[in-house]
Amino acid sequence: MGAVAIKQEEPAVTGQQPGTPPRLRVENVSLRYRTPEGGTFSALENVSFEVPDQQFAVIVGPSGCGKSSLLYLTAGLAEPTEGDIYVGGQLVDGPGADRGMVFQSYTLFPWLTVRQNVEFGLKRRGMPAAERREIVDYYLDEVGLRRFENNYPKQLSGGMMQRVAIARALANDPQILLMDEPFGALDSQTRMQMQQLLLRVWDHSKKTVVFVTHDIDEAILLGDRVYVMGARPGRIKRILDVPIERPRSLDMVMDRQFIEMKREILGLLHDDLEEAH
Ligand SMILES: Nc1ncnc2c1ncn2[C@@H]1O[C@H](COP(=O)(O)OP(=O)(O)OP(=O)(O)O)[C@@H](O)[C@H]1O
Ligand SMILES: [Mg+2]
Repeated sequence: MGAVAIKQEEPAVTGQQPGTPPRLRVENVSLRYRTPEGGTFSALENVSFEVPDQQFAVIVGPSGCGKSSLLYLTAGLAEPTEGDIYVGGQLVDGPGADRGMVFQSYTLFPWLTVRQNVEFGLKRRGMPAAERREIVDYYLDEVGLRRFENNYPKQLSGGMMQRVAIARALANDPQILLMDEPFGALDSQTRMQMQQLLLRVWDHSKKTVVFVTHDIDEAILLGDRVYVMGARPGRIKRILDVPIERPRSLDMVMDRQFIEMKREILGLLHDDLEEAH
């Protein structure tokens, strides 16, 4: 790495009751992969940050900087080489229903209907049918899919599948929702609709969200805070608060504050490209 000053702000803890742990705490996490040549590749190097309860955190960064790896580690699908991750003060030690996940590739069970997909986790936990029905009805209404409850995933559009995935994740009442480029495969109009839908659902659910995207407009539109990562090795370069009031609408892309923030993030990402050459 060149002699580039990396300013990593102190993890902020606003929006949180004093004395309660942050919803997510990533502590000195490094992740190294073995390369086919027998060496090691550092995907994440000493990453530390906190996400307060009910915050919408967005992670942006160049391709390959370790965004997905960070979510997999938080989900408990992989283990850090060094460091620890805590969700609600509990050390992550494998997958758990307290972390809901929505990923870019569609991960619905193809043999289950929309309703059965959303109901899956609740049924597995042995929740009685009447209670299950009430929760599933609520979330199907939230994502506007009640009419399609008996459809199978292959009978849905991409946007609808991601709406089912969001409903399924929230139905389990997770502590935190982890989203890895969930709208990356959608056309721009569907994507904008999904962003508005997610903001509405988030406002109702008050869940903590960690959302990964390549799209800076999307990051500023959705986030309370944007965590900008750098690559080689993957690390948090800067944490920026989004100074734009909610509710947010697409018109805000014309606002001065929006444009300034976009310029700042682009600058940080651009520096990273320069460093790589
Ligand atoms: N199983 C693996 N074995 C070896 N290297 C891996 C493995 N998984 C990921 N990597 C490497 O770790 C780095 C981080 O990968 P990751 O998928 O987390 O990046 P990302 O930021 O999500 O990228 P993108 O924006 O393209 O999705 C990449 O350089 C990738 O090549
Ligand atoms: Mg990724």
